Amino acid sequence: MERLVSPHNLEEDFTGDISLRPLRLAEYIGQSKVRDNIAIFIQAARGRKEPLDHVLLSGPPGLGKTTLATIIANELGTSLRKTSGPAIERPGDLAAILTNLEPGEVMFIDEIHRLNRTVEEILYPALEDFAIDIVIGKGPSARTLRLDLPPFTLIGATTRPGLLTSPLRDRFGIMFRLDFYNEEELAAIVTRAAAILGIMVEAEGAIEIARRSRGTPRIANRLLKRVRDYATVKAGGVITAGVAAAALGQFEVDERGLDNLDRTILEVIITKFGGGPVGLDTLAAAVSEEPDTLLDVYEPYLLKIGFIQRTPRGRVVTSHGYQHLGCQPPAGSPGNSLFDLSEE
Ligand code: ADE
Repeated sequence: MERLVSPHNLEEDFTGDISLRPLRLAEYIGQSKVRDNIAIFIQAARGRKEPLDHVLLSGPPGLGKTTLATIIANELGTSLRKTSGPAIERPGDLAAILTNLEPGEVMFIDEIHRLNRTVEEILYPALEDFAIDIVIGKGPSARTLRLDLPPFTLIGATTRPGLLTSPLRDRFGIMFRLDFYNEEELAAIVTRAAAILGIMVEAEGAIEIARRSRGTPRIANRLLKRVRDYATVKAGGVITAGVAAAALGQFEVDERGLDNLDRTILEVIITKFGGGPVGLDTLAAAVSEEPDTLLDVYEPYLLKIGFIQRTPRGRVVTSHGYQHLGCQPPAGSPGNSLFDLSEE
């Protein structure tokens, strides 16, 4: 079952959110450092009539990596060719895309850490010299042919920059790490989306949705639509703070934006593993999830709000995590005052 608070991109997002996505940098809310720096690099590249250097965008899902790629292409006055690491199976697939690019176009590879090694090797000369080396023939008569490409910009997106090989990482001249959004930024995103969708939301209602969106615009926009449904059916259509809180309570999204699965992770670490440390694979098996999903989707926000910590021996629940579930933290849990004293 798909979570209401999943930051994953559902088909629903593609159709439903397309008009919600900002198309220009000026409409983009949050990530102010990234935004300011992108504006500088784009203006400089345009001034020199050169393609923008290759860009690597990293960060948890739902924070706007694809949106930023679209905006960069728009601001460069060109189009975006989208693909993803797992979709490019063979070197020939990538060669076909690269040789069909128009000069100055932007190519976007989502989940670039999932490119396989033979495909990745095609990328090196493409990124560095705008050329690819094609092997013709087999055995002793095999020859390589260098094929020139039009100048282009690659934008790679990844939830796991650490999994990129260093030769690939080194070929990106621009690297940005997107971070979770604060409540104010998310409230502004909710207000903007509500205006586009014709949803009546009071300022306090937008803040309540923002507070429960796990720092993630994609979740904020999805919760807005579900709260709108609740408001329409149960509360006369206007989203006030009270209506938002009641709706999200009804949908089991708690005051911190955690859903049943987030709470299950905390509960399992506490009840089955004595609060931790527990290894990723063991924890994943205990909550019936893929380790990668825990790592990419669930963990980043629980770490961000300080409900869990990563230690060399595995994950531990902090005293804040215990308190959120209404449990008494043991004396030794991180964040507990006794623990903190013993650290000094
Ligand atoms: N919708 C989703 N993400 C957004 C952002 N960062 N700014 C404005 N609208 C958005």
